Amino acid sequence: MQIFHTISETRAFVRQARARGRVIGLVPTMGYLHEGHLELMRRAKSQCDMVIASIFVNPTQFGPTEDFGRYPRDLERDAAMAESVGVAAIFNPPVEEMYPQGYCTYVDVERITDKLCGLSRPGHFRGVATVVTKLFNIVQPDYAYFGQKDAQQALVIKRMTADLNMDLEVVIVPTVREQDGLAMSSRNLYLEPEQRHAALVLSRGLERARKALREGERNPAEIRQLVIDMIQAEPLAEPDYVELYSYPGLEPLERIEGLTLLALAVKIGRTRLIDNAILEV
Ligand code: PAJ
Repeated sequence: MQIFHTISETRAFVRQARARGRVIGLVPTMGYLHEGHLELMRRAKSQCDMVIASIFVNPTQFGPTEDFGRYPRDLERDAAMAESVGVAAIFNPPVEEMYPQGYCTYVDVERITDKLCGLSRPGHFRGVATVVTKLFNIVQPDYAYFGQKDAQQALVIKRMTADLNMDLEVVIVPTVREQDGLAMSSRNLYLEPEQRHAALVLSRGLERARKALREGERNPAEIRQLVIDMIQAEPLAEPDYVELYSYPGLEPLERIEGLTLLALAVKIGRTRLIDNAILEV
């Protein structure tokens, strides 16, 4: 497996593969890989001849008081993990390679970013859409893989590629969970043991909502309140948002019918975790 730190080396590598007719898959990540990331890479490997993973903690998607500085980084560990699932190359640029002096161009996906994480993290999706566009331009993949864990992000990327006529297919991979239900995340590393236990309120909240739905509840406000109550009953957890929207349109709902996104963001100490479920009536 190769590790590239520059755009030009990465381009040269991709150009050669493409000349040999290879179908190329890209898995964008911020590193500190876990089973969720590896599942994206395995899926890519099953559909593509060659998989490239990017590992870049993207400063433009972090707010000024967020965890950019302390986000976990361990390239050696990540490289061994990526290699074990057959990744051909890692693109791991320094910040100056992606955002050199004088950088001033951003991609803004409107409307679907003005809710959920877009509200609690202003500018976040502008940073995500920008860096993903750059990664797509650098690698020019045939397929790119994203996790359902970040449901709104996946919708933003799909919308962006459609709106800007980007010539690739976006594949969304189901959320990978720990045995006890906690969605895998690089940020789980921040949790102390009691906080790790408290973090189960996210997946339990989703389960609570599914149960209410099975029992016939169709009022989104009722379901939202059930989940908020559950989170508030956990002393170490504080809800950031609990929202239900139509899926994939992200329109507000009066009543649950058809596909519905239930999305949660919860603070456990300084750590903000997200999870979601697509409810189907
Ligand atoms: P990161 O949080 O490292 O996640 C990289 C990819 O892995 C994303 O598509 C995310 O949805 C997916 N992923 C994370 N946890 C997952 C899980 N438990 N199950 C399935 N997929 C999971 O998301 C980002 O990085 C960044 O915003 C990025 C897209 C790389 C742009 O900087």
